[in-house]
Amino acid sequence: MTGLSALRARARALLARRGAVVGINRRNLALVYPNNARNDYPLADDKLLAKELFVAAGVPVPETLAVCDGLFAVPATIEALRGQRDFVVKPANGSGGGGILVVGGWEAGRSCWLLAGGVPLSPVTLGRHLADIVFGVHSNQLEDRAFVERRIVPHALFSSLWADGLCDIRVITLRSVPVMSMIRVPTAESGGRANLHQGGLGIAVDLATGRTFRALHHGRAIERHPESGAPLLGLELPAWPEVLEVSRRAARAVPLGYLGVDVVVDRDRGPLVLEINVRPGLEIQNVNGAGLGPAIARAEGTA
Ligand SMILES: Nc1ncnc2c1ncn2[C@@H]1O[C@H](COP(=O)(O)OP(=O)(O)O)[C@@H](O)[C@H]1O
Ligand SMILES: [Mg+2]
Repeated sequence: MTGLSALRARARALLARRGAVVGINRRNLALVYPNNARNDYPLADDKLLAKELFVAAGVPVPETLAVCDGLFAVPATIEALRGQRDFVVKPANGSGGGGILVVGGWEAGRSCWLLAGGVPLSPVTLGRHLADIVFGVHSNQLEDRAFVERRIVPHALFSSLWADGLCDIRVITLRSVPVMSMIRVPTAESGGRANLHQGGLGIAVDLATGRTFRALHHGRAIERHPESGAPLLGLELPAWPEVLEVSRRAARAVPLGYLGVDVVVDRDRGPLVLEINVRPGLEIQNVNGAGLGPAIARAEGTA
């Protein structure tokens, strides 16, 4: 047995021995460390690097409109956005929705953009935000790159849940096999971002059928979106086999074995990969009302 397969066998034993629900230590010891080499983390943590790999592997991703690669590039980035109404600004190394601005309009009278949720954003404020990103304020490091993406127009099923932000589908993959999934839906509180820590809500999706069966907001089970009132359970997701397929392809495009793949369904282009996460959060278990342990055993055919 090679060192790696021995590690994996120990990891499997660890997953099988303890309870169904995986905590942070067990996630790290049994899932992240044996499957993701530390050196390869930047391929996932840096969204621009990950996008390059996806493009090379033919995995569909949202279009990048501009990259702001240092303080000197801030004015040109703002200039490139004049006349654009729908875009998203992100730190390349951000996580949990931190530092992301979702812009959805331009108000000519006040010469400012409007953020999802309606808050105005002047070019000066955007400049400061870009400067913060390149100084690493949103990414826990000394410097970073900011980039701008086209704002995705979601498939109608997702905009019917919450029109002012983008739902994403989180698919956990183990060695490219989908293990568990949920949709994350933005709320007024979450400013157009779907991350649960920003106030988004989670909906569990049955992997086999693509149907939703349970929803959670701030830890409470719900049946309707708290603001839009849209029903959340029993929905059949569009393009579900393709969503799983782009998740597998994204996972195969990087040398990382345990991932949280974030997929969105664009109205015109279908499923696109937004980003991948090497230490995917564990709330997906609360949302699904089930532990990752048995789901992983099922995916590996060892249940
Ligand atoms: N291109 C985009 N268009 C619209 N909304 C987006 C776009 N990119 C990200 N978002 C919103 O921001 C959230 C977080 O984006 P993501 O790229 O996954 O970064 P993070 O690492 O911070 O989670 C997404 O779930 C989505 O709701
Ligand atoms: Mg994400």
